[in-house]
Amino acid sequence: MALKPTAFTMEEAASIPLVGLTAWQALIEKGQLKKGQKVLIHAGSGGVGTFAIQLAKHVGATVATTASAGNAELVKQLGADIVIDYKKDDFAAILKDYDVVLDTQGGNALERSLRVLKPGGKPIGIAGPH
Ligand SMILES: NC(=O)c1ccc[n+]([C@@H]2O[C@H](COP(=O)([O-])OP(=O)(O)OC[C@H]3O[C@@H](n4cnc5c(N)ncnc54)[C@H](OP(=O)(O)O)[C@@H]3O)[C@@H](O)[C@H]2O)c1
Repeated sequence: MALKPTAFTMEEAASIPLVGLTAWQALIEKGQLKKGQKVLIHAGSGGVGTFAIQLAKHVGATVATTASAGNAELVKQLGADIVIDYKKDDFAAILKDYDVVLDTQGGNALERSLRVLKPGGKPIGIAGPH
């Protein structure tokens, strides 16, 4: 049994197992992310992204993430090493030789994410078809 932290509403608490499991399956089970590797996590300020950043740092990976400027400080506090403002900058022109990309956006973002991967790198998409 786990007790709900008093600062969380029931709805907020109910989201934790799902985003946690999603981040675990994507980064650890599918991505096989390891210490010393580089991972790009799209939408680091979102439900999945906030969890995924912390999990990737726990593993010992270097984390780049996309977020809007207003959330840059949040994702840095969660452990992100590199923060890219997706409204201003093109992540595909900045990052290279990544081992894993966790894409929560799909479509164009997933396609452009292939450019930041090293040969044999793993793109993990969880957005589904648009
Ligand atoms: N939540 C789950 O448990 C779960 C499970 C499986 C699959 N999924 C899928 O995963 C995706 C994300 O889910 P979520 O719950 O994490 O979403 P969310 O909490 O609604 O997060 C949305 C985030 O997307 C960011 N964003 C919007 N446009 C972006 C762009 N062009 N590039 C980078 N970031 C962008 C926003 O960042 P800013 O606010 O900083 O602008 C916002 O923080 C969805 O497709 C969902 O269906 C979610």
